This record gives sequence, C-alpha cells and structure tokens, in this order.
Amino acid sequence: MLVLFRKTPILGALLAQVVALPVVAAVTAPLTSSVERLPLIAIALLLQGALAALICGLLKLPRWWLLIAFLFPIAMGSALLVGNLPAWPFGLAFLVLALVFSNTTRGRVPLYLTNAETASVLKDLMRDRSATRVLDLGCGLGGVVRALNGEGRKARGVENAPAVYLAARFLAAVTGRGEIRRGDLWKTDVSQEDVVYAFLSPAPMAALWQKLSTEMKPGSLFVSNSFAVPDVDPDEIWELSDSRKTRLFLYPIGKAE
Ligand SMILES: C[S@@+](CC[C@H](N)C(=O)[O-])C[C@H]1O[C@@H](n2cnc3c(N)ncnc32)[C@H](O)[C@@H]1O
Repeated sequence: MLVLFRKTPILGALLAQVVALPVVAAVTAPLTSSVERLPLIAIALLLQGALAALICGLLKLPRWWLLIAFLFPIAMGSALLVGNLPAWPFGLAFLVLALVFSNTTRGRVPLYLTNAETASVLKDLMRDRSATRVLDLGCGLGGVVRALNGEGRKARGVENAPAVYLAARFLAAVTGRGEIRRGDLWKTDVSQEDVVYAFLSPAPMAALWQKLSTEMKPGSLFVSNSFAVPDVDPDEIWELSDSRKTRLFLYPIGKAE
C-alpha cells in the first residue's frame, strides 16, 4: 500500500484529507458555541492542513506533498470565504503552470528533482573516474549542475521548460556554478562529455539510449536516475540509502552490449 502511495502521491494526499476531515470536525464541533465563526473556521482549516500533512508524513510521501497537504485546505477555505475572487490570480497561476509544465505533455517528462544525497554520490562517482565534464539532460532547476560544478569539473545543463530554465539560469548566475542552456535534449551535443546524467521518465529511455550510445565518446558513462534503458543491461545499479531509495543505472559507452 505504501508503495502505491509513493508511486502515486496524489492518492495518499487525498486519503490524508479524507481521514483528517472527521477528526477536525469532531475536535472543532464543541467549540461552535464558544468561538466566533471566522476564528473557528481558521482553526479548523489549520488543523485540517496540519493533520493531513502529518498523515502524508506517515505515508512517507515526498516532502513537498506535506506542504501541499497543509496549504490545500487553507487555500480552498480562503477562496470560498473571500468569494467573488478576481480572475487574474487564476490566469497568472495558469501562465506559471504553462511555463513550467508546457513540455510535459509532449515529452512525458515532468519536473521532479534529484536530491542532495544523490548529487553527492554523483560527485564521488566523478571524482573516482577523474571525470571533468558532465551534462545533465533536462536539468530542471540545475541543482545537479551546481552540485557537480567546481574542483576542476565543468558541469552543464540543458532545459526546455521556459520558467524552469530561467530559474536554473538565475541560480547558476548567482552561485557562479555551472552553465545552463535553453534547448532540447534531443538536439544537444553530447560528444564531449565524460558523464551524461538524466532523470527523466520511462517514456524516452529507449530513444535516449539510441542517441547516447551512438553520439557519446568511448569510455564515457551514461547515468540514469531511476529509469532503466529497456533491454539493455546496465554495467552497475547503485541503490542509495536516501529516503527515496534512489537507484542509479550506469551504462558505460563503447562496451559490447
Ligand atoms: C525529472 S526533471 C529532472 C531535473 C534535474 N535533472 C534533476 O535531476 O534535478 C526532468 C526535466 O527535464 C526537462 N525536459 C523534459 N524534456 C526535455 C527536453 N526535450 N529537452 C530539455 N529538457 C527537457 C523537464 O522540463 C524537467 O525539468
């Protein structure tokens, strides 16, 4: 069951709200005669959010789902209370979502991020191989790029979602770490890299391997976070001990398959 919720967190988040609702109703019902309407609604919404977030934590959902679970009832409650909301916040929210996720429907690769533990393992891997060039295909906010750049290593990332690219570019500029380019990973030159890293989805893996195995130089390495290349045996699979139980699939280039 926990595995199902970890794979489809929205189900766990919905369950958390449903379970929290009667508890909050039971706790706040006795207060109706003594507490005024608005403070009581505020207490109920805060309790609902906190309890739902706690349940999401118990279900071991990724951390941002705890925040979503906490904010969801507060946002819904506030919208209902305020009533007659202007249309522009919804338009703005739509625009932001479009700028972040516009590429998801085409490429079937959503935005989720490599965690710090995995980035640290990747850094060790590069040190061990004395690798100096790394490219993150679909670099998201550029966390891996920033983590791996430095100590003689040159890390680059390519990203095609407009808002995500801008955020990654900004973060690289203010930290002075790494190089972020706006572009399509399928059109990116990978021939000079010692390591190419990708954390995408199952959908593009076969085609991606087709590109990398023909375009990367012999002796280089492709590392895929979580998603294996179908019908190709990785040289190694590293199972990390982070909370997500990340698996890294290592594919050396130029080895007979
Ligand atoms: C799962 S996220 C991983 C982000 C980052 N690599 C990390 O590990 O933190 C995948 C990213 O790939 C980007 N992406 C998907 N298709 C792409 C494409 N064709 N070209 C460039 N980026 C792409 C998405 O916008 C998203 O930011």
